[in-house]
Amino acid sequence: MDYKAYIAARIPDCGIPAEEIAESIVIPPDPSMGDYALPCFRFAKLLRKSPALIAEDLAARYPLDAIVVGAKAVNGYLNFGIGRKGLAEETLSAVLREGERYGSSNEGEGKTVCIDYSSVNIAKPFHIGHLSTTVLGGALYRIYKFLGYNAVGINHLGDYGTQFGKLISAYKHWGKREEVEEGGIHAINELYVRFNNEATEEMEREAREYFRLIESGDREANDLFEWFKSLTMAYVGKIYDRLHVSFDSYAGERFYLDKMQPVIDELKEKGLLVESQGAKVVDLEAYGMPPFIVLRSDGASLYATRDLAAAFYRKKTYDFYKCLYVVAYQQNLHFKQLFKTIELMGKDWAKDMVHVAYGMVSLEDGAMSTRKGKVVWLEDVLNRCVEKARAVLAEKNPDLKNGEEVAEKVGVGAVIFGALYNSKIKDITFSYDRALNFDGETSVYVQYTCARCASVLEKLKGLPLGDADKVQPNGEEFALVKAIADFPEAVRGAAENYEPSVVARWCVDTAQKFNKFYIACPIAQAETEDLRAFRKTLTYAALCAMKNGMGLLGIGVPEKM
Ligand code: ARG
Repeated sequence: MDYKAYIAARIPDCGIPAEEIAESIVIPPDPSMGDYALPCFRFAKLLRKSPALIAEDLAARYPLDAIVVGAKAVNGYLNFGIGRKGLAEETLSAVLREGERYGSSNEGEGKTVCIDYSSVNIAKPFHIGHLSTTVLGGALYRIYKFLGYNAVGINHLGDYGTQFGKLISAYKHWGKREEVEEGGIHAINELYVRFNNEATEEMEREAREYFRLIESGDREANDLFEWFKSLTMAYVGKIYDRLHVSFDSYAGERFYLDKMQPVIDELKEKGLLVESQGAKVVDLEAYGMPPFIVLRSDGASLYATRDLAAAFYRKKTYDFYKCLYVVAYQQNLHFKQLFKTIELMGKDWAKDMVHVAYGMVSLEDGAMSTRKGKVVWLEDVLNRCVEKARAVLAEKNPDLKNGEEVAEKVGVGAVIFGALYNSKIKDITFSYDRALNFDGETSVYVQYTCARCASVLEKLKGLPLGDADKVQPNGEEFALVKAIADFPEAVRGAAENYEPSVVARWCVDTAQKFNKFYIACPIAQAETEDLRAFRKTLTYAALCAMKNGMGLLGIGVPEKM
């Protein structure tokens, strides 16, 4: 339930617009101040009254009920108390009813959201720079589905460009079939790097010719390209499985080669295409941007041209409500130009396109950091984190069963969580030690708390899950109830702001609330049967909601740790 909205909707008429009230309601840092509060300072000017008087007037007139049981004016704040029993009852029964679906909704029904994410480049390294787009996109994909949207995951493969001509040339000179088959993407990448270091004039010419052959449909050149592509996709697919991401479409840049002309024609018809140094561009000077280059002087298309065609194709194919591009902020200008161009073409759906930009991830660990020309492969980061997780777990719990499985969940989870915990636009430095700290704001802390919940439930197996209506929750119990009640709002907030960190933070916050409750309140030893049943149910609900939250992020929760 959305308590802020509930409270706001019942504020007595006072001349302040309802949306403004809803936006202003906050959760006080100190719960003794109330569960929610409306600061009245910003309304003083509008109402020509002191904040204290506004709060007092509203407090006197606020209609209390079983949900909002108190409204008190304190120093210009209007503090609300939520009925503990009522909230506990409602929240716990919602979790019991909905289980794995708790936090979901059908508000997105009938709306399609396209999410362009991960979008790897064939035959190039899948490196740490792809982590954020892959896990952010994957999380948004699951979050939108959870909210009832039709989510379409699109991997806009980088499968077109002169580098494939170079690669074929390198392979012809230095490659061996078995070695490439065996070494996969690493072998391909080595060939490519070697070409860039050692290629002669002659080879450069040859590479251009091979590229031309791919384009003209030459059988051998295309077979080689398809082979490189399948080796790349097999490799990348394994990492996608480990990160729990999937796609509905792998339509890459090549897919759009025969779909660009109509868009170019429309640009021409609308008088938007102008000549500039031989190239064809859209002039965006009036909007403070450099020209958007659509065709090179030799008539060749560009990344931008293919993105234009892709946008039109997506609108036509999916009739999207929104089309998201989860791409690093380095491409801010590209997307601004792309969206502006579509707007200038008179398409009102340009407003539905969103560049979900994110910051850079680098590694704190010196041994693995990018040396000149050496990239950090994402797979190596995952393996290393799993290895460290294995060591940490062995120390904590040497008798752990399924150690391998747990280490994989903890290690991979730590990498995912590392990329999702902070607001996405921030640059982050990933540290293995920090990410695997059991007492930090980490996935392993949440996972460990979940395992603790599971073990409580296991111990109380015989006891039925109880009703909340026989117990008046104490402070710790109520703080946990409230956190659980806030989950649906966190999911919605994450979707609204394209910000899975809202869910990640909710997970840590809820785990902290659970642990405070766990320390303060005996569960198996509680005085009465009703209290034991209530606390067990609360534990169950916390576990269920945290599992749902972690699942949305793509992180598994082990039963035992
Ligand atoms: N492959 C591109 C890169 O690695 C990202 C593509 C993003 N998607 C798009 N539609 N432009 O930079």
